[in-house]
Amino acid sequence: MPDLCVIPGDGIGREVIPPAVAVLQAVTPGLSVQPAEAGWETFQRQGISVPPATLEIVRACRAALFGAVSSPARRVVGYRSAILTLRQELDLYANLRPVRSLPRVSPRPGVDLVVVRENTEGLYAGRERLEGDVAIAERVITRRASLRIGRRAAQLMHSTGRRRLTIVHKANILPLSDGLFRDSVRQVVEEQRGPGDDWQVDELLVDTAAFKIAAQPETLDVLVTTNLFGDILSDAAATWCGGMGLAASLNWGDEAALAEPVHGSAPDIAGQGIANPTAAILSAALLLRYAWQMPERAARVEAAVAQAWAQDLDPAAPLRTETVTGAILARLA
Ligand code: IPM
Ligand code: MN
Repeated sequence: MPDLCVIPGDGIGREVIPPAVAVLQAVTPGLSVQPAEAGWETFQRQGISVPPATLEIVRACRAALFGAVSSPARRVVGYRSAILTLRQELDLYANLRPVRSLPRVSPRPGVDLVVVRENTEGLYAGRERLEGDVAIAERVITRRASLRIGRRAAQLMHSTGRRRLTIVHKANILPLSDGLFRDSVRQVVEEQRGPGDDWQVDELLVDTAAFKIAAQPETLDVLVTTNLFGDILSDAAATWCGGMGLAASLNWGDEAALAEPVHGSAPDIAGQGIANPTAAILSAALLLRYAWQMPERAARVEAAVAQAWAQDLDPAAPLRTETVTGAILARLA
Protein backbone atom coordinates (compact mmCIF):
# COMPACT_ATOMS: atom_id res chain seq x y z
CA MET A 1 0.00 0.00 0.00
CA PRO A 2 1.24 3.52 -0.71
CA ASP A 3 2.44 5.95 1.95
CA LEU A 4 1.03 9.44 2.04
CA CYS A 5 2.45 12.57 3.63
CA VAL A 6 -0.34 14.97 4.59
CA ILE A 7 0.41 18.71 4.80
CA PRO A 8 -2.79 20.63 5.59
CA GLY A 9 -1.00 24.03 5.75
CA ASP A 10 -2.93 27.17 6.70
CA GLY A 11 -6.52 28.43 6.54
CA ILE A 12 -9.01 26.25 4.67
CA GLY A 13 -6.17 23.82 3.86
CA ARG A 14 -6.93 22.35 7.29
CA GLU A 15 -10.60 21.94 6.39
CA VAL A 16 -10.34 20.46 2.90
CA ILE A 17 -7.46 18.03 3.48
CA PRO A 18 -9.17 15.73 6.05
CA PRO A 19 -12.04 15.06 3.58
CA ALA A 20 -9.52 14.24 0.82
CA VAL A 21 -7.66 11.87 3.17
CA ALA A 22 -10.96 10.21 4.10
CA VAL A 23 -11.72 9.67 0.40
CA LEU A 24 -8.27 8.17 -0.22
CA GLN A 25 -8.72 5.88 2.78
CA ALA A 26 -12.12 4.80 1.49
CA VAL A 27 -10.67 3.58 -1.81
CA THR A 28 -7.23 2.53 -0.51
CA PRO A 29 -7.67 0.54 2.70
CA GLY A 30 -4.41 0.26 4.62
CA LEU A 31 -3.08 3.59 3.37
CA SER A 32 -0.42 4.82 5.78
CA VAL A 33 -0.69 8.52 6.57
CA GLN A 34 2.18 10.68 7.90
CA PRO A 35 1.33 14.23 8.97
CA ALA A 36 3.78 17.06 8.27
CA GLU A 37 3.72 20.81 8.48
CA ALA A 38 4.45 23.76 6.21
CA GLY A 39 3.27 27.30 5.64
CA TRP A 40 3.01 30.68 7.27
CA GLU A 41 2.12 29.50 10.76
CA THR A 42 4.99 27.04 10.61
CA PHE A 43 7.27 29.94 9.63
CA GLN A 44 6.03 32.01 12.55
CA ARG A 45 6.74 29.16 14.97
CA GLN A 46 9.94 27.75 13.49
CA GLY A 47 11.37 30.51 11.28
CA ILE A 48 11.10 28.32 8.18
CA SER A 49 8.08 27.64 5.96
CA VAL A 50 9.06 24.08 5.00
CA PRO A 51 11.06 22.44 7.80
CA PRO A 52 13.65 19.82 6.74
CA ALA A 53 11.58 17.16 8.56
CA THR A 54 8.68 17.84 6.18
CA LEU A 55 10.91 17.36 3.12
CA GLU A 56 12.22 14.12 4.61
CA ILE A 57 8.72 12.76 5.15
CA VAL A 58 7.61 13.64 1.60
CA ARG A 59 10.78 12.05 0.18
CA ALA A 60 10.20 8.90 2.20
CA CYS A 61 6.51 8.65 1.24
CA ARG A 62 7.11 9.82 -2.37
CA ALA A 63 3.58 11.23 -2.30
CA ALA A 64 1.93 14.12 -0.49
CA LEU A 65 -1.38 15.86 -0.22
CA PHE A 66 -0.98 19.58 0.35
CA GLY A 67 -3.80 21.92 1.38
CA ALA A 68 -2.94 25.58 1.00
CA VAL A 69 -0.68 28.08 2.70
CA SER A 70 -0.94 31.76 3.48
CA SER A 71 1.76 34.23 2.56
CA PRO A 72 2.48 37.58 4.17
CA ALA A 73 1.18 40.55 2.18
CA ARG A 74 4.55 42.32 2.50
CA ARG A 75 8.07 41.02 2.08
CA VAL A 76 9.25 39.25 5.24
CA VAL A 77 12.97 38.60 5.58
CA GLY A 78 13.75 34.89 5.47
CA TYR A 79 10.30 33.86 4.30
CA ARG A 80 10.00 31.79 1.15
CA SER A 81 6.70 30.50 -0.24
CA ALA A 82 6.13 26.97 1.02
CA ILE A 83 4.72 25.62 -2.23
CA LEU A 84 7.53 27.09 -4.34
CA THR A 85 10.05 25.62 -1.89
CA LEU A 86 8.43 22.20 -2.11
CA ARG A 87 8.35 22.30 -5.91
CA GLN A 88 12.00 23.26 -6.06
CA GLU A 89 13.41 21.06 -3.30
CA LEU A 90 11.56 17.99 -4.52
CA ASP A 91 12.10 18.83 -8.20
CA LEU A 92 8.36 18.54 -8.93
CA TYR A 93 8.89 19.61 -12.51
CA ALA A 94 5.44 19.03 -13.98
CA ASN A 95 2.18 20.53 -12.80
CA LEU A 96 -0.90 18.79 -14.19
CA ARG A 97 -4.03 20.91 -14.04
CA PRO A 98 -7.04 19.16 -15.52
CA VAL A 99 -10.24 21.09 -16.14
CA ARG A 100 -13.34 19.04 -16.76
CA SER A 101 -17.00 20.02 -16.79
CA LEU A 102 -19.02 18.57 -13.95
CA PRO A 103 -22.80 18.28 -14.05
CA ARG A 104 -24.63 21.30 -12.60
CA VAL A 105 -21.65 23.01 -10.97
CA SER A 106 -19.80 23.82 -14.19
CA PRO A 107 -21.00 26.74 -16.32
CA ARG A 108 -20.61 24.79 -19.55
CA PRO A 109 -20.63 21.10 -20.53
CA GLY A 110 -18.07 19.39 -22.74
CA VAL A 111 -14.84 20.87 -21.42
CA ASP A 112 -12.11 18.30 -20.77
CA LEU A 113 -8.63 19.74 -21.02
CA VAL A 114 -5.35 19.46 -19.12
CA VAL A 115 -2.77 22.18 -18.66
CA VAL A 116 0.71 20.64 -18.29
CA ARG A 117 2.71 23.42 -16.71
CA GLU A 118 6.50 23.44 -16.43
CA ASN A 119 6.96 23.90 -12.69
CA THR A 120 10.58 24.76 -11.94
CA GLU A 121 11.90 27.60 -14.10
CA GLY A 122 10.76 30.39 -16.45
CA LEU A 123 9.87 33.53 -14.51
CA TYR A 124 9.86 31.44 -11.33
CA ALA A 125 13.64 31.04 -11.48
CA GLY A 126 13.89 33.74 -8.79
CA ARG A 127 16.34 35.87 -10.76
CA GLU A 128 15.08 39.35 -10.16
CA ARG A 129 17.22 42.38 -9.44
CA LEU A 130 17.20 46.16 -9.28
CA GLU A 131 19.68 48.23 -11.22
CA GLY A 132 18.94 51.75 -10.08
CA ASP A 133 15.49 52.52 -11.41
CA VAL A 134 15.41 49.45 -13.63
CA ALA A 135 13.96 46.20 -12.34
CA ILE A 136 14.99 43.10 -14.28
CA ALA A 137 13.51 39.61 -14.08
CA GLU A 138 15.22 36.80 -15.96
CA ARG A 139 13.02 34.17 -17.55
CA VAL A 140 15.09 31.00 -17.65
CA ILE A 141 14.27 28.26 -20.15
CA THR A 142 16.55 25.23 -20.35
CA ARG A 143 16.62 22.40 -22.85
CA ARG A 144 16.69 19.91 -19.97
CA ALA A 145 13.50 21.21 -18.32
CA SER A 146 11.75 21.60 -21.68
CA LEU A 147 12.61 18.03 -22.68
CA ARG A 148 11.39 16.56 -19.43
CA ILE A 149 8.09 18.46 -19.44
CA GLY A 150 7.63 17.30 -23.03
CA ARG A 151 8.30 13.73 -21.95
CA ARG A 152 5.73 14.06 -19.16
CA ALA A 153 3.17 15.39 -21.62
CA ALA A 154 3.84 12.50 -24.01
CA GLN A 155 3.46 10.07 -21.10
CA LEU A 156 0.09 11.66 -20.32
CA MET A 157 -0.97 11.25 -23.96
CA HIS A 158 -0.09 7.55 -23.78
CA SER A 159 -1.74 6.82 -20.47
CA THR A 160 -4.96 8.73 -21.09
CA GLY A 161 -5.61 8.19 -24.80
CA ARG A 162 -5.98 11.90 -25.41
CA ARG A 163 -5.91 13.12 -29.02
CA ARG A 164 -4.21 16.44 -29.30
CA LEU A 165 -1.16 17.99 -27.70
CA THR A 166 -0.78 21.75 -28.08
CA ILE A 167 2.49 23.49 -27.26
CA VAL A 168 1.75 26.99 -25.93
CA HIS A 169 4.49 29.61 -26.17
CA LYS A 170 5.37 33.13 -27.28
CA ALA A 171 8.22 32.35 -29.66
CA ASN A 172 7.23 35.23 -31.94
CA ILE A 173 8.68 37.70 -29.43
CA LEU A 174 10.89 35.31 -27.45
CA PRO A 175 12.48 33.31 -30.27
CA LEU A 176 15.46 32.10 -28.23
CA SER A 177 13.80 31.11 -24.96
CA ASP A 178 10.36 30.06 -26.18
CA GLY A 179 11.90 28.80 -29.42
CA LEU A 180 14.03 26.45 -27.31
CA PHE A 181 10.98 25.41 -25.29
CA ARG A 182 8.86 24.74 -28.37
CA ASP A 183 11.54 22.89 -30.31
CA SER A 184 12.59 20.75 -27.34
CA VAL A 185 9.01 19.76 -26.52
CA ARG A 186 8.30 19.00 -30.18
CA GLN A 187 11.44 16.90 -30.46
CA VAL A 188 10.72 14.79 -27.42
CA VAL A 189 7.02 14.24 -28.11
CA GLU A 190 7.84 13.15 -31.65
CA GLU A 191 10.45 10.74 -30.24
CA GLN A 192 7.97 9.36 -27.72
CA ARG A 193 5.21 8.90 -30.23
CA GLY A 194 4.90 5.23 -31.18
CA PRO A 195 3.58 3.84 -34.49
CA GLY A 196 0.17 3.13 -32.89
CA ASP A 197 -0.25 6.66 -31.51
CA ASP A 198 -2.49 8.78 -33.65
CA TRP A 199 -2.48 11.90 -31.53
CA GLN A 200 -1.67 15.15 -33.19
CA VAL A 201 0.85 17.75 -32.06
CA ASP A 202 0.32 21.43 -32.78
CA GLU A 203 1.11 24.80 -31.23
CA LEU A 204 -0.55 28.06 -30.24
CA LEU A 205 0.78 31.44 -29.23
CA VAL A 206 -0.17 32.06 -25.62
CA ASP A 207 -2.52 34.95 -26.39
CA THR A 208 -4.40 32.85 -28.93
CA ALA A 209 -4.50 30.02 -26.40
CA ALA A 210 -6.03 32.41 -23.85
CA PHE A 211 -8.70 33.39 -26.37
CA LYS A 212 -9.49 29.74 -27.12
CA ILE A 213 -9.72 28.91 -23.42
CA ALA A 214 -12.22 31.72 -23.02
CA ALA A 215 -14.21 31.22 -26.24
CA GLN A 216 -13.89 27.56 -27.35
CA PRO A 217 -12.59 25.55 -24.40
CA GLU A 218 -14.12 22.32 -25.68
CA THR A 219 -11.79 22.36 -28.71
CA LEU A 220 -8.69 22.07 -26.45
CA ASP A 221 -7.20 18.85 -25.14
CA VAL A 222 -3.68 18.84 -23.63
CA LEU A 223 -1.77 22.14 -23.40
CA VAL A 224 1.92 22.06 -22.50
CA THR A 225 3.51 25.35 -21.56
CA THR A 226 6.05 27.29 -19.52
CA ASN A 227 5.65 28.10 -15.84
CA LEU A 228 3.95 31.51 -15.75
CA PHE A 229 1.82 30.91 -18.84
CA GLY A 230 0.63 27.68 -17.22
CA ASP A 231 -0.09 29.50 -13.96
CA ILE A 232 -2.26 32.08 -15.70
CA LEU A 233 -3.95 29.84 -18.26
CA SER A 234 -4.86 27.20 -15.68
CA ASP A 235 -6.66 29.78 -13.52
CA ALA A 236 -8.53 31.07 -16.58
CA ALA A 237 -9.47 27.52 -17.61
CA ALA A 238 -10.67 26.73 -14.08
CA THR A 239 -13.72 28.88 -14.77
CA TRP A 240 -15.05 25.98 -16.83
CA CYS A 241 -14.97 23.37 -14.08
CA GLY A 242 -16.91 25.73 -11.85
CA GLY A 243 -14.22 27.83 -10.22
CA MET A 244 -11.45 27.42 -7.70
CA GLY A 245 -13.46 25.19 -5.38
CA LEU A 246 -13.24 22.50 -8.07
CA ALA A 247 -9.81 23.00 -9.63
CA ALA A 248 -7.32 20.20 -8.93
CA SER A 249 -3.60 19.85 -9.56
CA LEU A 250 -0.70 17.46 -9.24
CA ASN A 251 2.91 18.61 -8.86
CA TRP A 252 4.70 15.62 -10.30
CA GLY A 253 8.42 14.86 -10.36
CA ASP A 254 10.39 11.63 -10.70
CA GLU A 255 11.03 11.21 -6.97
CA ALA A 256 7.75 12.48 -5.54
CA ALA A 257 4.28 13.78 -6.38
CA LEU A 258 2.34 16.39 -4.44
CA ALA A 259 -1.38 16.84 -5.00
CA GLU A 260 -2.70 20.32 -4.32
CA PRO A 261 -6.03 22.07 -4.85
CA VAL A 262 -5.34 25.14 -6.99
CA HIS A 263 -7.12 27.45 -4.53
CA GLY A 264 -5.37 29.31 -1.72
CA SER A 265 -5.85 29.30 2.05
CA ALA A 266 -8.85 31.69 1.86
CA PRO A 267 -8.43 33.28 5.32
CA ASP A 268 -11.72 35.18 4.80
CA ILE A 269 -13.77 31.98 5.02
CA ALA A 270 -11.43 29.80 7.12
CA GLY A 271 -12.80 28.15 10.25
CA GLN A 272 -16.44 28.33 9.21
CA GLY A 273 -16.86 24.89 7.67
CA ILE A 274 -17.87 26.35 4.33
CA ALA A 275 -14.83 25.55 2.16
CA ASN A 276 -15.46 23.31 -0.83
CA PRO A 277 -13.43 20.10 -0.42
CA THR A 278 -14.05 19.01 -4.04
CA ALA A 279 -10.78 20.45 -5.44
CA ALA A 280 -8.77 18.68 -2.73
CA ILE A 281 -10.65 15.42 -3.35
CA LEU A 282 -10.11 15.65 -7.13
CA SER A 283 -6.42 16.39 -6.46
CA ALA A 284 -6.25 13.22 -4.37
CA ALA A 285 -7.69 11.36 -7.37
CA LEU A 286 -4.77 12.65 -9.46
CA LEU A 287 -2.40 11.11 -6.96
CA LEU A 288 -4.21 7.79 -7.39
CA ARG A 289 -4.21 8.01 -11.17
CA TYR A 290 -0.70 9.23 -11.89
CA ALA A 291 1.58 8.82 -8.88
CA TRP A 292 0.26 5.49 -7.68
CA GLN A 293 -0.88 4.20 -11.08
CA MET A 294 -4.29 3.21 -9.75
CA PRO A 295 -6.53 4.53 -12.53
CA GLU A 296 -9.57 2.45 -11.55
CA ARG A 297 -9.59 3.90 -8.03
CA ALA A 298 -9.07 7.39 -9.42
CA ALA A 299 -12.04 6.87 -11.74
CA ARG A 300 -14.16 5.72 -8.79
CA VAL A 301 -13.39 8.91 -6.89
CA GLU A 302 -14.04 11.10 -9.93
CA ALA A 303 -17.34 9.31 -10.60
CA ALA A 304 -18.37 9.72 -6.95
CA VAL A 305 -17.67 13.45 -7.17
CA ALA A 306 -19.62 13.78 -10.43
CA GLN A 307 -22.58 11.79 -9.10
CA ALA A 308 -22.68 13.60 -5.78
CA TRP A 309 -22.79 16.96 -7.55
CA ALA A 310 -25.23 15.74 -10.20
CA GLN A 311 -27.73 14.15 -7.87
CA ASP A 312 -27.13 14.48 -4.15
CA LEU A 313 -26.00 18.05 -3.58
CA ASP A 314 -27.78 21.29 -4.34
CA PRO A 315 -25.28 23.63 -6.01
CA ALA A 316 -27.54 26.59 -5.20
CA ALA A 317 -27.61 25.85 -1.46
CA PRO A 318 -25.01 27.38 0.90
CA LEU A 319 -22.04 25.03 0.82
CA ARG A 320 -21.01 23.07 3.91
CA THR A 321 -17.72 21.16 3.83
CA GLU A 322 -19.17 18.24 5.74
CA THR A 323 -22.24 17.96 3.51
CA VAL A 324 -20.13 17.77 0.36
CA THR A 325 -17.71 15.31 1.99
CA GLY A 326 -20.58 13.16 3.26
CA ALA A 327 -22.22 13.00 -0.17
CA ILE A 328 -18.99 11.98 -1.91
CA LEU A 329 -18.10 9.39 0.75
CA ALA A 330 -21.62 7.96 0.55
CA ARG A 331 -21.13 7.43 -3.19
CA LEU A 332 -17.96 5.47 -2.42
CA ALA A 333 -19.47 3.30 0.30
C1 IPM B 1 -0.30 28.30 -8.05
C2 IPM B 1 -0.09 29.53 -7.20
C3 IPM B 1 1.39 29.68 -6.90
C4 IPM B 1 2.11 29.90 -8.21
C5 IPM B 1 1.71 30.80 -5.89
C6 IPM B 1 0.97 30.61 -4.60
C7 IPM B 1 3.20 30.90 -5.63
O1 IPM B 1 -0.61 30.64 -7.83
O2 IPM B 1 -0.03 27.18 -7.57
O3 IPM B 1 -0.74 28.43 -9.20
O4 IPM B 1 2.25 31.04 -8.67
O5 IPM B 1 2.54 28.90 -8.79
MN1 MN C 1 -1.63 30.19 -9.71
